[in-house]
Amino acid sequence: MVLKPFKSKTIIEPFRIRSVEPIRFTTMQERQKLLKEAGYNPFLLKARDVLIDLLTDSGTGALSSGQWSGMLESDESYAGSSSFYKFETAVREITGFKNVIPTHQGRAAENILFTTVAGKGDVIPNNTHFDTTRAHVEHNGAEARDLVIPEGREPQTIHPFKGNMDIDALEETIESVGTSKIPIIMLTITNNSGGGQPVSMANIKAVSEVAKKHGIPFFIDACRFAENSWFIKTREKGYADKTPMEIAQEIFSCADGCTMSAKKDGMSNIGGFLALNDDNLAQKCRSLTILTEGFPTYGGMAGYDMEAVAKGLYEALDEGYLRYRIRSAAYLGEKLVDAGISIVQPTGGHAVYIDAKKTLPEIPPLEYPAWSLVNALYLLGGVRAVEIGTVMFGLQPDGSEKAASMELVRLAFPRRVYTQSHVDYLAEVIIAAYEQRDKLTGYRIVEAPNVLRHFSARLEPIGS
Ligand code: F0G
Repeated sequence: MVLKPFKSKTIIEPFRIRSVEPIRFTTMQERQKLLKEAGYNPFLLKARDVLIDLLTDSGTGALSSGQWSGMLESDESYAGSSSFYKFETAVREITGFKNVIPTHQGRAAENILFTTVAGKGDVIPNNTHFDTTRAHVEHNGAEARDLVIPEGREPQTIHPFKGNMDIDALEETIESVGTSKIPIIMLTITNNSGGGQPVSMANIKAVSEVAKKHGIPFFIDACRFAENSWFIKTREKGYADKTPMEIAQEIFSCADGCTMSAKKDGMSNIGGFLALNDDNLAQKCRSLTILTEGFPTYGGMAGYDMEAVAKGLYEALDEGYLRYRIRSAAYLGEKLVDAGISIVQPTGGHAVYIDAKKTLPEIPPLEYPAWSLVNALYLLGGVRAVEIGTVMFGLQPDGSEKAASMELVRLAFPRRVYTQSHVDYLAEVIIAAYEQRDKLTGYRIVEAPNVLRHFSARLEPIGS
């Protein structure tokens, strides 16, 4: 009997489930009450009242049996624990960087790096700074300058690498600011604030060459380096036959160092690192690590956290996993586009972003259309997403309010947590909200702090 090989159309979850975590169903009536009590702010909901939680992909993933077994073997010694050496070996193998400094999460690595290199009047170019990166740059008196290509700012424009840096703009910035005022150049892969969009290898190399030419160190914000490697493999000429590991190694070989939140492509619930080649700079960074994080062989992590990251970094580079991961976002994106819903295209790695400005044109930006859609998703289906729009970015330093450039709803996928049926359900909820879009109202802020207001603001629907 000679059977023709079978090629499946369905990309299945590359794992089976051995430990389950029940999720809790609530009625729409209950959710109405819960949302009101939370000041119409999904950040203030209890997680147990959420059915599908897409607030973030950060630290929310499922650990593998391999990670759990490593965690049981952890060494909790204060100095020189074997868990640290496993962690260091993994980071060195993937990034090639000589000095590996563990931190409790990504922003701690940013704090150490920018406190050490940046000062008043400096400018840090990046494709797009993530919020915490920007905050650390600014906290040190420097300016965070976003130089993503123009396509990266246009939700509907299709481009394979919308996270690319605008190389001409980078050259112009160096020309006008002067190399002495640019302590480092950064590149965020993938570009989270721009829709989880990847950066091409050609662009990474171009940034690296510009940095070298001017003698400026080049650092990568590597949170989603494995997802970015997958996009290079599947979209960039010459990389189809390379493994994600080889591509990741090639990416890092272009840079002098990186900051990393292991809560993303470290597949861990907590952790991060700063890795770099320059011994002098590393020495300065280690001193600060002792001050703010802990001894440089644990840097704010438990031994078992370092074990989880040491294994997780390799698991994030597994082809079967990456195929499933990137497909999940594309699958939801296709369903939404088929239903006529505007999203940031093409879908990125870790999330799908709905364009709320296009979806709810009747709601003016200062009445927060993306926020309104986020709340509708919770009310209709118990889904928690996050607004990336005027509530998050609209408050100006002088207290006035300005519409954000985009009104997006981000649906971020925790790693290895949800299955295809969860995604099918999600699509149904979003489409149901879209079909009733004429009933959605704007919101007004009732009370809010002066900084990072979206986390704790209380709002109310207009006209209720
Ligand atoms: N850089 C990028 C690109 C990020 O997406 C994040 C976190 C950080 C740095 C900071 O890392 O949270 O470990 O301190 N992003 C999360 C998110 C919070 O929801 O996108 P952290």
